[in-house]
Amino acid sequence: MAVTLSLTVNGKAVNATVDPRTLLVELLRNQLGLTGTHVGCDTGQCGACTVHVDGRAVKSCNLLAAQANGAVVVTIEGLAAADGTMHPMQAAFKECHGLQCGFCTTGMVMSAIDLVNRHPKASEATIREELEGNLCRCTGYHNIVKAVAQGAAAMAK
Ligand code: FES
Ligand code: FES
Repeated sequence: MAVTLSLTVNGKAVNATVDPRTLLVELLRNQLGLTGTHVGCDTGQCGACTVHVDGRAVKSCNLLAAQANGAVVVTIEGLAAADGTMHPMQAAFKECHGLQCGFCTTGMVMSAIDLVNRHPKASEATIREELEGNLCRCTGYHNIVKAVAQGAAAMAK
């Protein structure tokens, strides 16, 4: 049995027919071709699959696509302006070299934007605590934390 879904993804109305067991990350990557959202663990631990659902950061491997029916979903592909200008948080990760291999980066950026929306003046301790659900095997986190602080300042402008 298939289910038919209607949702908004990166500002566009999307209709999809999926197996009820389909995860949101599978819908995004496999059916919609939005492969900027990564799968690192498939068990809700690494945060590489983080997207925004109705404005909140969500691990898309932990959500059935059907649970996002009617929702507004934003992925990393939906952050840049129409003219290609990066979101201030993306620019901050680039400027602060908050990445190495980049595998965790999309999830980090999506979580970072959500945390700054909730804590516009987040301290370093808050940034570190809020990013506990996003694992990076490369950077040691120092430049990621710097990037989030710089991105927060840029988002406040
Ligand atoms: S792939 Fe979703 S948390 Fe790791
Ligand atoms: S930059 Fe490689 S996993 Fe984070």
